[in-house]
Amino acid sequence: MSDLSRLILDHVRDIRDYPQPGVLFKDITPLLADPEALAAVVDGFAGLHQVEKVVGIEARGFILAAPTAYRVGAGFVPVRKKGKLPAETLEASYDLEYGSATIEVHRDAFTPGERVLIVDDVLATGGTARAAVELVRRAGADVVAIAVLMELAFLKGRERLDGVEVHSLVVV
Ligand code: PRP
Ligand code: MG
Repeated sequence: MSDLSRLILDHVRDIRDYPQPGVLFKDITPLLADPEALAAVVDGFAGLHQVEKVVGIEARGFILAAPTAYRVGAGFVPVRKKGKLPAETLEASYDLEYGSATIEVHRDAFTPGERVLIVDDVLATGGTARAAVELVRRAGADVVAIAVLMELAFLKGRERLDGVEVHSLVVV
């Protein structure tokens, strides 16, 4: 296991039965609160690809995507839960590990063919990431890769992202 993977695992804590019974929640707040771990994660994402835009998925993806965009010298684009973006949007719905959701992006968030890195904290069933890929593509941009802090391999999210480059800093 790499030093970065170990650093991440040491700073993500498992919360049993949150937000509902049977779910083991990955709490990244200890990682965010640690300067060394936060910097290592952002540097890890920023080193993957040179892109023009970094997309963050509300809410936890925002926290990691914005500093990554700054580090890369790219712009930041939010993919938000339905009803939060003020201008004209595109939307996509998906099933979550718990419940379902609809996310949106501004229709004019990208210039055609722009290279995009999508960032989120956790890849679980892959529904969120898959919907984000769909939105970015429909908005006319090119998804270069998806980057997540942590991939929950047993939920097989990667299989739902066929044809998309997926980077996980740690796989559990
Ligand atoms: C969590 C997590 C990922 C997503 C992964 O977000 O932050 O975005 O679920 O699940 P999936 O791969 O099964 O789609 P959540 O929807 O709980 O919202 P939050 O980021 O706003 O806390
Ligand atoms: Mg999320």
